[in-house]
Amino acid sequence: MVIKTIAGALLVAGLAFGISNAALADKKMAPKTLMGASAQALSDTCAGCHGTDGASGGPGTPTIGGLSKAYFVELMKGFKSGDIPGTIMGRIAKGYSDEEIEKIASHFSGLKFVPAKQAFDAAKAKKGAKTHEKYCEKCHSDGGTNTEDDTGRLAGQWTHYLQSTMADFISGKRDMTRKMKKRVMKLHKKGGDAAFDELMNYYASQQ
Ligand code: HEC
Ligand code: HEC
Repeated sequence: MVIKTIAGALLVAGLAFGISNAALADKKMAPKTLMGASAQALSDTCAGCHGTDGASGGPGTPTIGGLSKAYFVELMKGFKSGDIPGTIMGRIAKGYSDEEIEKIASHFSGLKFVPAKQAFDAAKAKKGAKTHEKYCEKCHSDGGTNTEDDTGRLAGQWTHYLQSTMADFISGKRDMTRKMKKRVMKLHKKGGDAAFDELMNYYASQQ
């Protein structure tokens, strides 16, 4: 009698589980198009390196949640074509069609940018803020927090990543727009590595 009851209970539980699973599966199927995977499913594959919802937990991998859609697409296409150098993203971006990149970009641009928690030197950050205002603010507005400029996010981005990006820009490995190049090279000539170090401390201070 007891066994029968447990078996009965298990059966009922099993049925309920089966039904709720089917309902869940239906929900997941809903956004799928005939072309294949949903934006969420495509974007889930990025979480291993870029963190949950694109908020990276490690200095070498940038945070990608909350970038503008246009810039996100530009980055992915740049990695795909090889115009933007990278250690790993060239290979990864090649795995996605332009249509899938659009979907992934829509997904991540709809998320919130979570600034990285990183150490900084307050005195250097103060100098960096002035340098930013003079050389970068025009196109990376609101102290580098505004992603609507379609120029990426500097404030609160992992500075290890920003630093290697700047090194690629300055060495010519990655192209800059003519106007950004003018400012960056002027700053490099005038302030050298110290000026960029101060800038990085400023971006790290915006948490
Ligand atoms: C194996 C780890 C790894 C995986 C998986 C990965 N990335 Fe990346 N991603 C990186 C690294 C490292 C960089 C820095 C550039 C480089 O070295 O390739 C980067 C850079 C980026 C950038 C540039 C951000 C910026 O502000 O400049 C974007 C956008 C991006 N990844 C999107 C994605 C998307 C979308 C996926 C999933 C489809 C993905 N990544 C999967 C490691 C990864
Ligand atoms: C005249 C406009 C302009 C100025 C000034 C400018 N930038 Fe940029 N920046 C851009 C644009 C546009 C991009 C997007 C990449 C591209 O199209 O080359 C960019 C991209 C970047 C990126 C890459 C972000 C990412 O997530 O991949 C970094 C880092 C950067 N800029 C740093 C700086 C710094 C530091 C300064 C000041 C010393 C500066 N920029 C001044 C226009 C500018």
